[in-house]
Amino acid sequence: MKFEINSYQDYQKEYQKSVINPEGFWAEKANEFIWRKKWNNVLSWNFTEPTIKWFEGGKLNITENCLDRHLQERGNKIAYIWEPNNPNEKNIKITYFELYTKVCRFANVLKNNGIKKGDRVCMYMPMIPELVVSMLACARIGAIHSVVYAGFSSDALANRIQDTQSKLLITSNGAYRGTKQIKIKTIVDEALKKCESIKKVIVVKRTDENISMLTGRDVLWKDEEANVGDTCNAVEMDAEDILFVLYTSGSTGKPKGIVHTCAGYMVYVDYTFRNIFHCSQQDVYWCSADIGWITGHSYLVYGPLLSGVTSVMFEGIPTYPDAGRYWEVIDKHNVNIFYTSPTAIRALMTYDIDFVDKHQLTSLKLLGTVGEPINESAWKWYYKHIGKEKCFIVDTWWQTETGGIAISPLLNVSYPKPGYAMHPLPGIQPTIVDGTGKKLIGNEVQGQLCIKFPWPGMLRTIYNNPERYKQTYFTDFPGFYFTGDGCKRDKNGDYRITGRVDDLIKISGHLLGTAEIENAINSHHKVVESAVIGYPHPIKGNAICAFVVPFKTSENPEQLKLEIIEQVSHLIGPIAKPDKVQLITELPKTRSGKIMRRILQKILGGETTHFGDTSTLINPKVIETLVKENIKEFQLNNNQH
Ligand code: PRX
Repeated sequence: MKFEINSYQDYQKEYQKSVINPEGFWAEKANEFIWRKKWNNVLSWNFTEPTIKWFEGGKLNITENCLDRHLQERGNKIAYIWEPNNPNEKNIKITYFELYTKVCRFANVLKNNGIKKGDRVCMYMPMIPELVVSMLACARIGAIHSVVYAGFSSDALANRIQDTQSKLLITSNGAYRGTKQIKIKTIVDEALKKCESIKKVIVVKRTDENISMLTGRDVLWKDEEANVGDTCNAVEMDAEDILFVLYTSGSTGKPKGIVHTCAGYMVYVDYTFRNIFHCSQQDVYWCSADIGWITGHSYLVYGPLLSGVTSVMFEGIPTYPDAGRYWEVIDKHNVNIFYTSPTAIRALMTYDIDFVDKHQLTSLKLLGTVGEPINESAWKWYYKHIGKEKCFIVDTWWQTETGGIAISPLLNVSYPKPGYAMHPLPGIQPTIVDGTGKKLIGNEVQGQLCIKFPWPGMLRTIYNNPERYKQTYFTDFPGFYFTGDGCKRDKNGDYRITGRVDDLIKISGHLLGTAEIENAINSHHKVVESAVIGYPHPIKGNAICAFVVPFKTSENPEQLKLEIIEQVSHLIGPIAKPDKVQLITELPKTRSGKIMRRILQKILGGETTHFGDTSTLINPKVIETLVKENIKEFQLNNNQH
């Protein structure tokens, strides 16, 4: 496989080129793909309006680059090794040619069900090959895919379908997750009571669960696919046509539909995949992320397929049937490159080391992490026990919005440095600013991370909401894209991401908005108001504590806490469940009504006296009460354990 960066000199050369002449740099990369028509203009942009266009006038279809162009050279090569939840079930190997055929056939199914270019198609599915086929089939005919993580609740699914006005939904009857069977179709049926835009539902039969089918709306994948042709011409897309929408949490309660377009996303994901993972044509690559998140989109679907590599796709969870499952799968399929989350590593570290040591892990060459800061002890464990001190680790920093990895250690360029994302990728021009927006120049600086120049993989807008797009990313620091992350550049110029600086919290690598969770809690009829804050958790990175003011404190408080947790699970999904709920009498607020989270954070940390400036509090006495309530809560919990 071709990669441009394999030494520090290569990196410097590439990086300089990308800054001095970004258009020439990216045009050269884009030239490597199949285009129906080349672009007229590489880039037009401004961060004020904002508007960003890459490869304008270019015509292409990304699936021709992911599939058609490999057929001659590697049609019989395996694209995916699908590893089921249950290790006793047979795995499935799908070649590039088979994948191409499946995609064409399903694209024909979509057409038969009335889907045309520009229509939105939603997917709510477990990690089964049909999910990849569905996404590519949409891309083949120019429909916009919107994948919703199958751990979200029916309400969360309904909100996302309503926002895109999807016409068709692809789902499965059920899902296997460890020992559990999840009734996916039941969740879908509940959601669709609120979604008039959905005219058709295509159901994959994955489990033995009976499927309730609504006549006229629901059809089976198997039946639909029985009588269609094996080929389907790819629809010609404009470089800036939408490829997909993917939702991520925002500071307000409503999630943001991040929009990525066809050409820029393709060029950027391909470049980063090749240069970060250094997969050779013989290598087996495994990204363990769920396709419901951007990591799955970019580095389990589009990135590896653009490169024509063999990927493992895993349906299950790391602890089933035991905590050695990941390592067993690595040995079973001779995985060379493994990309996972710090949360998974931290969780697996808590088990007996025998779960690792009974596996060889000799095939591994490179390891990666993504999604949240990795703490030093988890990094070291990963390096020592999984990588056997010979595998380079890429701690990749990026976002749903960046489309692909933006800052990362690079093989043969960076030295190992736990906790550091290290080097901006060519094309990424990071700028650290202080709270007033002043650029912090030079090394040994810490502040908020912005990016000052567009890169092809960046988001183009928020679906249906250009104003929110502008407000969220381009307003706090005019002239820059604002990431929402804190960042440090150390004395060597290496980058370290320090965590979110806004109202978003990373829980087990999932980004959640405090407002989103508070809205869910406040919708409980016994709740007046609430404030949600994150606090450090040894496995999940962060956990959620909800401070809740109920109408009546005396009424069965423990029952109310359980109901609140259930409410969040019901309205958002189990990933957003608070770990702690504290019932309190009043929230600390300023005169303008803003909740002083800083104070809650301190109280939760056990602080009793030093609260800094509290002069803006409408009722300073509230602190005293909160401290007492926190101590009481602490004692209560300790007595329970
Ligand atoms: O806070 C950063 C954190 O994850 C956020 C983006 O989340 P999401 O859009 O869900 O995408 C996750 C997968 C790309 C970032 O703003 N984050 C991501 N990677 C890292 C990280 N924080 C520290 N180190 C990382 N490597």
